[in-house]
Amino acid sequence: MKGYKVAIVGATGLVGQEFIKVLVQRSFPMTSVHLLASDRSAGKKLFVSHQEIEVKETAPESFKGIDIALFSAGAEISRYFSPIAAQSGAVVIDNSSAFRMGPTVPLVVPEVNPEDIRWHKGIIANPNCSSIQVVVALYPLHKVNPIKRIIADTYQAVSGTGSVAVEELTTQARQVMEGQNTTPHVYPHQIAFNVLPEIDVFLDNGYTKEEWKMVEETRKIMHASAIDISATCVRVPVFTGHSAAIHVEFSQPMSPDEAQRILTQAPGVKILDDPAISLYPQPWSAAGTDEVFVGRIRRDASHPNGLVMWVVADNLRKGAALNAVQIAEEMIKRDWL
Ligand SMILES: NC(=O)c1ccc[n+]([C@@H]2O[C@H](COP(=O)([O-])OP(=O)(O)OC[C@H]3O[C@@H](n4cnc5c(N)ncnc54)[C@H](OP(=O)(O)O)[C@@H]3O)[C@@H](O)[C@H]2O)c1
Repeated sequence: MKGYKVAIVGATGLVGQEFIKVLVQRSFPMTSVHLLASDRSAGKKLFVSHQEIEVKETAPESFKGIDIALFSAGAEISRYFSPIAAQSGAVVIDNSSAFRMGPTVPLVVPEVNPEDIRWHKGIIANPNCSSIQVVVALYPLHKVNPIKRIIADTYQAVSGTGSVAVEELTTQARQVMEGQNTTPHVYPHQIAFNVLPEIDVFLDNGYTKEEWKMVEETRKIMHASAIDISATCVRVPVFTGHSAAIHVEFSQPMSPDEAQRILTQAPGVKILDDPAISLYPQPWSAAGTDEVFVGRIRRDASHPNGLVMWVVADNLRKGAALNAVQIAEEMIKRDWL
């Protein structure tokens, strides 16, 4: 099999580190891997499998000869460097929100809309972490019984904000346990032993940008502009693993058994649903895994066509690095690079 020259922009970050792990674990066909970050990390060495590789500062010439550039260094860096990388001949798979809603940029979850990869013009967007796990769980049901309305409430881990937020939760948890005061830096309030219904900035319509990303991205990925969607996104003091309580209204009634049957066959989904033994998805056990876990599937007592479910996934893997690598694998498989 042919090998590819891969660059990781943001290689020292939480998602970047996960990129390295996922590429190695999946034996991604690489002839070389180039680790890029800011000038702060230039010269630092990271292991890729057993090989030590030096991190370089990201520069326009970093993308010469690169086939696939995996970006996870924030929207500003993506906006500046992705077009340069694409012009240099690389296909960019971008984890930031910079290009997701762009009409010429496919927004892809391989289990849902892999065929959208075909019309890329050099940049493919990886969706928001919460959007990914919701569509992986809902799309197989939507294909059988079209969804009319989704209400999703998320419980999102601090690693979704990056390594500084992981440090903040660690520090604050220790301070609270030792009876000290905490000073929030990353979030507007203390996150340890607390929950914050604020992820990203507030918009004029009263939603946060994170909530609105879920609305718009879900419709774009599922090619379903008519679905009514509402979301409340909440930051919780969990290190890794996003959870979502999802209320779905279908066109026709769907029983929990039928939903379970469909999801048992669905790619990337694992059912964990046995209330009798308290079996349901949890972020603690989802961390470090690749599946989107679904449980607590039940009738929505408030609507005859409604179901409720609880969906959990590792936000750094399926919510970010894994999904992006799966896009690259799909591109190679279909010869669309
Ligand atoms: N965490 C998640 O669950 C998740 C999920 C989906 C998408 N994302 C997206 O992925 C991106 C990174 O997230 P993260 O959690 O990995 O953040 P992180 O842990 O804070 O890491 C940020 C990375 O960006 C690099 N960077 C910062 N400034 C840079 C610059 N001027 N030039 C080049 N590189 C620079 C950092 O390099 P230095 O070490 O040199 O500073 C570091 O490698 C964000 O766009 C985020 O929205 C994250």
